[in-house]
Amino acid sequence: MSDTWNRGVPDGDSAPSAELRTDIPHPARMYDYYLGGKDNFPADRAAAAKVVELLPSAPAGSRANRRFLGRAVRFASELGIRQFLDIGTGIPASNNTHEVAQAVAPESRVVYVDNDPIVLAHARALLKGTPQGRTAYVDADFRDPGSILNAPQTKELLDLSQPVALLAVALLHFFADGDHPLDLLGQFKAELAPGSVLILTHGTGELMPPEIARSIEAVYTQSGLNITSRTHDEVLRFFDGMELVEPGIVPVHEWRTDGHEDDRVMTREEVAGYAGVAIKRG
Ligand SMILES: C[S@@+](CC[C@H](N)C(=O)[O-])C[C@H]1O[C@@H](n2cnc3c(N)ncnc32)[C@H](O)[C@@H]1O
Repeated sequence: MSDTWNRGVPDGDSAPSAELRTDIPHPARMYDYYLGGKDNFPADRAAAAKVVELLPSAPAGSRANRRFLGRAVRFASELGIRQFLDIGTGIPASNNTHEVAQAVAPESRVVYVDNDPIVLAHARALLKGTPQGRTAYVDADFRDPGSILNAPQTKELLDLSQPVALLAVALLHFFADGDHPLDLLGQFKAELAPGSVLILTHGTGELMPPEIARSIEAVYTQSGLNITSRTHDEVLRFFDGMELVEPGIVPVHEWRTDGHEDDRVMTREEVAGYAGVAIKRG
């Protein structure tokens, strides 16, 4: 494990930081619940269970999102990309970005970013890289791109004059239009060298009955969390200035599927997210 990894990250098994509120739902822990993880608390489970009641396929959709992440990281690795900036990492699960990237190229370097104290508490214990590659964790907020791009870990691991894969997977729907997620993402995209890729998924209510979409949004709002469903065209705007690779923006299970049985049986109505990957040209 690199020295960089340790900076600012508590021992994996140590008590979570004081900011950790277990009495209110957190997106990372609700997602962990959908994925069948154990890092969630009663408040997370109660909110997530309400979503599952409305959309029984939410856990399957979350697993499909994870599988997309794996396919897209492999795609970037096979393009020759060896550096990854994964914003909104989530609680470590199977096939984390560095595991997929370093399976293709052990020298791959990954900087993970999240602002949730529970992700921070798990980071060191679970995100270990190959001896040849390196991984680091930055405890920072997407709303402050400078704190991510100028973090010592980012500067040490990533050479922004070379292509980078920027991941914003199941992240941007946590930002209302008033948070200016397009501008925020644009600040990261502006720093990317030609040949870089953007890997993105985004929640949508477009593929399900509107009343279900509204009820899901209400569960999050009542829990004090923002969730903003976006249409296909709105998601497309996040890729402005980049060239989408085939098949464009599609429901997550349809993006370059590798024939996984669960993706094959999943219907569009069951999936609550769009996925896309784009390349920055010179
Ligand atoms: C649904 S999880 C997605 C995890 C992973 N990217 C995946 O798709 O498997 C969303 C993650 O975004 C993180 N997140 C939400 N708002 C954030 C912010 N303002 N800055 C950084 N991370 C944020 C949450 O803490 C959570 O871990």
